[in-house]
Formats: sequence, structure tokens, C-alpha cells
Amino acid sequence: MEFTGQTAIVTGAARGFGRAIARRLARGGARIVVADINLPGAEKTVALIRKDGGEALAAQADVASAASVEAMVKAALGTFDGRVDILVNNAAIWTLVPTEELSETDWDRMVDVNMKGVFLCCKAVIPIMKRQKRGHIVNIASIATRTGGTFAGLHYVASKGGVLAMTKKLGKELGQYGIVVNGVNPGTSQTEMTATWDPTIIEGIIRNTPLGRTVTPEDIADTVAFLASDAARFVHGETVEVNGGILCD
Ligand SMILES: NC(=O)c1ccc[n+]([C@@H]2O[C@H](COP(=O)([O-])OP(=O)(O)OC[C@H]3O[C@@H](n4cnc5c(N)ncnc54)[C@H](O)[C@@H]3O)[C@@H](O)[C@H]2O)c1
Repeated sequence: MEFTGQTAIVTGAARGFGRAIARRLARGGARIVVADINLPGAEKTVALIRKDGGEALAAQADVASAASVEAMVKAALGTFDGRVDILVNNAAIWTLVPTEELSETDWDRMVDVNMKGVFLCCKAVIPIMKRQKRGHIVNIASIATRTGGTFAGLHYVASKGGVLAMTKKLGKELGQYGIVVNGVNPGTSQTEMTATWDPTIIEGIIRNTPLGRTVTPEDIADTVAFLASDAARFVHGETVEVNGGILCD
């Protein structure tokens, strides 16, 4: 996929899927804004991109804060030609708590980061993409929206269900401006997000996956690169399942 001359913001790119997505888009020639609440991690991603010969900026941002998101987008515009061609809403948090033990504070933070974060990042880039008469937005949801999230709390599942619905609504609203919106539903991957899971859970997932392994960050990065490219120009308002076939039944 070819992204030369384009600027991409990837949220939650200090590690995991976000880092792989940022590196993948950078290898295609995009200039990357590595946006994350974890600045040292974001700087590490930037160093990796530069080592590969790419261009990137580390921007500390809490996607749950409008002021923080606006400052991040301003930094992006100031550094890279006043353009934002691609936004990948990837930042999220995860916990598994039985519903009756879930606190209101934990619910609010989960929904603020995973769902409101998508809204705030979209709100900040839509005027720029409208001006450009083009843009690509890719939202990372989760297989939990299909399964009910065996290994995720109600707040995580609800927040990702919101992301799925927002992908449809944004698709309906923004297509007329040349802004293409899609999503990805990743299956389970052995990133730091799932590092605390019991190995038997992972073994069970692999056993039930026809392609016989868990998802890698590169599986997600390649799908995002497709959705962010002209090759996917008529794919719109859809969420692509990337899970090795675990939902085949
Ligand atoms: N790992 C999996 O098995 C899996 C499965 C399905 C969906 N997902 C989704 O994929 C995406 C990436 O997952 P991952 O496994 O790479 O997660 P991860 O925990 O390894 O990385 C998430 C990144 O988001 C950042 N982040 C957290 N809160 C933030 C905030 N408020 N503002 C900005 N950045 C913030 C973190 O610092 C981190 O760098 C998430 O949306 C996750 O929900 C992951």
C-alpha cells in the first residue's frame, strides 16, 4: 500500500497493535503521529520508525480529554504540512471484572477512553479531512462485540459495541465528504493487554481457531493498511473480522 505524502495519526501506538500499525503505514511512506498517553513508549515507536527510514512524531495525548486530543492534532498539523489523511482509533484499555463488582468510576474511565476517545479524535480531524475532501478513519473494535467478550468486562464490551455503531454512523455521515470510515474487529492477540491471561485460555483459543494461532499485531496492521488505502476505496462503514476463523461455525 502506498501512503507517500500522507499523514496518519495512530492512537495508542506506544506498543501492541498501534505500534505495528504505525510502523506498517510508515513503511508505506506515511508520516506518522504516534499518539499515546505513554510518551516514552511513543518515543520508542518513533525511534523504530526512523530506524526503518520513516518520519514520525511522538505526541503525548489522553484520548479521553478533548483538550489533550486537540493539542495532539495541532502538533500534527504544525509538524506535517497541515494535513491529516488517516486516523486510526486504536487506543483502549481493558479489564475483566464481574458486572456486580464493576465500579461506576471504572465504567466511566473505560467508556471515556475506548468510546469517547474515538468521538473526540474524529471530531478533531473531521474539519481537516472535509477541507481536504478526503480522509480515511479506521476504528479498532474487538471480537468481544461478536461473542459477548468471554474474557472482558461489561464496560469493555459496551465500549467496543459503541465503536462498532460509531463506524456505521460515521460512515453514513462522512461518505459525502470523501471520508471513508471502516473498522477492524481483532480476535485475541498476545500483546501486553492480554499478558495477564491464564495460558490455558490462550491454548483454548488456539485450539478453536481453524488457522491455529492467535492474532499478531502485523495481522491487524496489514488489514488497517488495506482499509486506509485506495485499494479499499468502496469499502465503507464496515468492520472487518481478523481472527483466524474462530467465528466459523
Ligand atoms: N490484544 C487483543 O487481544 C485485542 C483483541 C481485540 C481488540 N483489541 C483492541 O486493539 C487495540 C490495541 O490493543 P493492544 O492489545 O495493542 O493493547 P495495548 O494495551 O498493548 O496497547 C494499548 C495502547 O493504548 C494506550 N492508551 C491507553 N489509554 C490511553 C489513553 N487514554 N490515551 C491514549 N492512549 C492510551 C496505551 O498506553 C497503549 O500504548 C485496542 O483498541 C484493543 O481494545 C485487542
